Amino acid sequence: MIRSVIAGVGAYLPDNVVTNAELAKKVDTSDEWIRERTGIRQRHIAKEGERTSDLAVEASRRALLASGIDAGELDLIVCATTTPDQTFPATATAIQARLGMIRGAAFDVQAVCSGFIYGMAVADNFIKTGMAKTVLLVGAETMSRLLDWNDRTTCVLFGDGAGAVVLQAAEGDGTNHDRGVLNTKIYSDGRLSHLLYVDGGPSTTGTTGHLRMEGKEVFRHAVTNISASIVASANEAGIPVSEIDWFVPHQANQRILDGTARKLGIDSAKVVSTVAQHGNTSAASVPLALATAVADGRIKKGQLILLEAMGGGFTWGASLIRW
Ligand code: UT7
Repeated sequence: MIRSVIAGVGAYLPDNVVTNAELAKKVDTSDEWIRERTGIRQRHIAKEGERTSDLAVEASRRALLASGIDAGELDLIVCATTTPDQTFPATATAIQARLGMIRGAAFDVQAVCSGFIYGMAVADNFIKTGMAKTVLLVGAETMSRLLDWNDRTTCVLFGDGAGAVVLQAAEGDGTNHDRGVLNTKIYSDGRLSHLLYVDGGPSTTGTTGHLRMEGKEVFRHAVTNISASIVASANEAGIPVSEIDWFVPHQANQRILDGTARKLGIDSAKVVSTVAQHGNTSAASVPLALATAVADGRIKKGQLILLEAMGGGFTWGASLIRW
């Protein structure tokens, strides 16, 4: 059986760091409120002129370097983003050009904060079916461009950044002892789109629009949906949730991470959290957290890693990987 093994991980954050205290000078909020309600202490914000593809290319170069794979060996680039450089072409094609990849294909996946999990399903299936051997999967966002900086209920929550992984085909024996992606579960419920959306777009207002969210409602669904997808992924692999070594969640709110861990009886020491440093970077948040835990040596070869996310749509899902 063909498995998709992660050969390298990379991350990139814009230099510009904005702390809660700095934000409180421009927005009617406080460091205390943001920390208590979300766990966020700071976020990185792209400078004027800095594009999603700029962050993505840097993260991708680092992932390629870590994997020892040349851009010319890639068959496919999948970029998960909600904040493309332009409405079209796909940001993935800008990444392709700048990495010097002149063969294969490149396209974007749009599933908002769950984009990286959706992208993992796409990349893994391309590899499993033999359509690609080597895939670059990037989650990259400049969420700061979608924020209404007069809406304190949303603008304090998000940040910019990018994370990338290189996946490569490898032979496995089809058991859950194989290295690589064991399964990816993805879900959506379009009836709930009004709870988290952008109030603009090419076919409606003709403008980019701003992010709008019913935070409390999203929170309620997040814990339920994320927990269900973790259980579904673990059950499909025949692995008890307690045997998973590391949980790498979407970083929306520390209280969501804690609530999910409590609900499933997960030791919170196994949950990778970067929400304090990065805020919510949408599709970039899972690979940024993954890159952090790989770089600091927490994630080790052979361990079981569970990635999960929930976002606008609603979309949600989980991916179980043996590192
Ligand atoms: O990435 C996609 C998924 N997104 C999420 O998962 C986000 C999920 N939701 C959340 O994380 C939380 O619901 C929030 C962090 C957005 C809000 O936390 P909350 O505990 O649900 O607060 P709330 O919306 O109920 O607001 C409580 C109070 C309100 O004041 P009143 O009505 O009680 O007087 C708000 O007006 O806090 C006020 N408030 C603020 N105060 C200071 C809202 N935003 C702010 C702010 N600074 N930035």
